[in-house]
Amino acid sequence: MARACIAGTGAYLPERVMTNAEFENLVETSDEWIRTRTGIRERRVAAPEQATSDLAVEAARLALADAGVEPAQVDAVIVATLTPDYGFPATACLVQKALGIPTTAAAFDVSAACTGFLYGLECARGLLATGSYRNVLLIGAETLSRITDYTDRGTCILFGDGAGAAVLQPGLGDGRNGHEVISVFLGADGANSHLLSMPAGGSRKPASHATVDAREHFLRMDGREVFKLAVYGMIAAARGALARAGLTAGDLALVIPHQANLRIIEAVAERLEVSRDRVFVNVDRYGNCSAATTIVALDEAKRQGRLKTGDHVLLLAFGAGMTWGGAVIRW
Ligand code: ACO
Repeated sequence: MARACIAGTGAYLPERVMTNAEFENLVETSDEWIRTRTGIRERRVAAPEQATSDLAVEAARLALADAGVEPAQVDAVIVATLTPDYGFPATACLVQKALGIPTTAAAFDVSAACTGFLYGLECARGLLATGSYRNVLLIGAETLSRITDYTDRGTCILFGDGAGAAVLQPGLGDGRNGHEVISVFLGADGANSHLLSMPAGGSRKPASHATVDAREHFLRMDGREVFKLAVYGMIAAARGALARAGLTAGDLALVIPHQANLRIIEAVAERLEVSRDRVFVNVDRYGNCSAATTIVALDEAKRQGRLKTGDHVLLLAFGAGMTWGGAVIRW
């Protein structure tokens, strides 16, 4: 298979900060409960006029500039999201239009919830392997605040809005202008799909007065069961991605796990026997931004100087589906 590398990254988080204290006015909860059970202190919320594609475009501009790639040079746009602007058309097509990417480019969305960026990464690698694509713009973007039920204390405290983007190119990268994606490992478990979903608005249960009254257009989750599967899935993904890369956890300079809950992150790190200083955490500031999470965190780790040339970095994600994935990158 032809090699793929990350040539540039960017991230955009909306300005509005929503603190834990604000939830004390919405549901029966406390800052203390949220911090100790999840590690989250605050999250970002998109402005009313901002849709997912608007966040995606901001992140994409930064990633393109970082890679030194013009919109005219992009030949595929992939957006991973579970909160698209519309049921259809694809959010990727809206991004293409907003950035002035030529009509010779492909544009499509990937639906794998919080694992979407890693599923998109494998799609991007596949496109690049054909030899027909030179610059793939891969974006993870979410406005989860639009499907969050702010009357449900079990879910509303967890989520935030944001977007991250990467430009993928063929080749190994030299560590300065590109960082090789060494391996990707993906998994899914549809038998547990009922644990995390938005019940209405699709073909199974089209929108009606009854579905609106029942609050079925919001995200629903069995938190306890999802917690257990998240740990299982990310461990499986880590082992799979490391095996495909011919590496062990001891070779990793940094693990960037999905930022859903600090306790999940700590459980995964403990089982992988990776010390806390080699695990990236920003869930305290952004909460769970689903498909945006891993790429926002990778971009932040880069800007914080936590990635050195030659470092092996492991991205891990877990989400609705259920889905999970891991990717090893040589920085
Ligand atoms: N404030 C106060 N109390 C609360 C809150 C809250 N916000 N939420 C739940 N509780 C209560 C519960 O009602 C329960 O009370 P009870 O004992 O009287 O019944 C008690 O706290 C314990 O509830 P649990 O669900 O067992 O709490 P837990 O420690 O498991 O934490 C949480 C809940 C934070 C949701 C956790 O289960 C979790 O993080 N799950 C995983 C979520 C996740 O990772 N999702 C990732 C995928 S997201 C995606 O793909 C979009």
